[in-house]
Amino acid sequence: MNMQTKTWVEVGTLSDIPRQGARCVKNGEMTIAIFRTMDDRLFALEDKCPHKNGPLSNGIVHDGCVTCPLHNWVISLETGAAQGADEGMTTTYPVKLDGGTVLLGL
Ligand code: FES
Repeated sequence: MNMQTKTWVEVGTLSDIPRQGARCVKNGEMTIAIFRTMDDRLFALEDKCPHKNGPLSNGIVHDGCVTCPLHNWVISLETGAAQGADEGMTTTYPVKLDGGTVLLGL
């Protein structure tokens, strides 16, 4: 988690993000994927798998994790850490809801 949050940026509404799916936003050169779980929790991760930079936003969301579409690594949505025997970390960002508006902390 990035603890030096400076700004909350509006990046759309909750209904823009499919349940168990993701929506991407650009931050300069970087793409950040905002994930929505089945129970409407939101998580934001850089859209880059720690294995070989696979697009996590195209992965399957389940059990608080996303499975990378390229080689099936499982990444924690909360911590960005690879699960199981795999090792690696994706950067996470704070994200919150204000009414139905999604705010990303950058
Ligand atoms: S790039 Fe994600 S598992 Fe290989």
